[in-house]
Amino acid sequence: MRIGVLSGGGDAPGLNAVIRAVVRTAVFKYGWDVTGIVDGFEGLLTPTKTRQLTSWNTRGILFIGGTILGTTNRGNPFAHKTVIGGREIVEDMSSMVVGNIRELGLNALVVIGGDGSLKIGNGLHKLGIPVIGVPKTIDNDLMATHVTFGFQTAVDTATEALDKLHTTAESHQRVIVLEVMGRYAGWIALEAGMAGSADVILIPEIPFSMDKVAEKLLERKKAGSKSSIVVVAEGAKPSGGKMAVREETADGYVIRLGGMGESVANEIANHTGFETRVTVLGHVQRGGSPCPFDRLLATRYGAHAVELIAQKKFGEMVSYQPPIITSVPLEKAISSLKFVEPDSELVKIAEGMGVSFGR
Ligand code: F6P
Repeated sequence: MRIGVLSGGGDAPGLNAVIRAVVRTAVFKYGWDVTGIVDGFEGLLTPTKTRQLTSWNTRGILFIGGTILGTTNRGNPFAHKTVIGGREIVEDMSSMVVGNIRELGLNALVVIGGDGSLKIGNGLHKLGIPVIGVPKTIDNDLMATHVTFGFQTAVDTATEALDKLHTTAESHQRVIVLEVMGRYAGWIALEAGMAGSADVILIPEIPFSMDKVAEKLLERKKAGSKSSIVVVAEGAKPSGGKMAVREETADGYVIRLGGMGESVANEIANHTGFETRVTVLGHVQRGGSPCPFDRLLATRYGAHAVELIAQKKFGEMVSYQPPIITSVPLEKAISSLKFVEPDSELVKIAEGMGVSFGR
């Protein structure tokens, strides 16, 4: 028995912990061989890029960020893009990938990915490949699991940044805006904002009014606060306005968000006259050592993925439904994204404690 494992899409802290758990469970418990696919689905095109994984060469990676296998978020075999003579060509290379998986002798494939990679995994499963999904993303926007691995580490990183911004903001009597990642979901902004004691939290799920944000900051100044901290999710947008997009394709697909922090900071300065600064946290949230929670969650996900293979339960994604790890059909897992409910408990608690969402 030989199984394959790949990491697809943007990286997240804990990827190596999943890879290690897959390898060790497959090798020690079942005596199987494991093939690592290099650079996500790209590694399954011709010529394939693989490396044999053993308990020996996956030693010492539990606490290391990134992925030893490499990843890419541009390698969709169902719509593979190449540039020939300056022109972009989009081709369906899925049958080549299916053929290569068979040629590599893989009896199952573990796909560690977010929404996009799990959709590709589900597509391959429909073409007859025995696939198991593992939910990864710092954005925590996958519906079918309580939490994705990588999210908690990103929240820790953003919270640490907020702790540091508080002290400098106070010294200089400034408003400091922190822009965090999360794509169309406000989970990182909400949880880090609460853990890091932000005064204003702006998330995509609650379009904000700049007047309300300014009102809150002026009120704080009047009450004697020397500084204020504003957390802005990269996907936040003013009511009736648009998200800040940095890069998109000709047909409107958003490749990169970013810039809302800067825009909010400028507006705050204009509305209030307060000295305002902005910090864009960016990929710091994706890098570095996974926190213990993510190491454990990733390890449980990886080990359970192998158990699903042993039970021949293919086309499933491992899912954390506290306190247990179980699984859900991939089809269901990719059917919708998970967003912050505008009137959920944490939002209500925050508002009850004086935090403004700009509404
Ligand atoms: O999905 C993870 C994520 O980090 C998002 O929060 C962010 O919008 C995006 O990926 C950034 O992608 P890239 O690394 O391609 O800039």
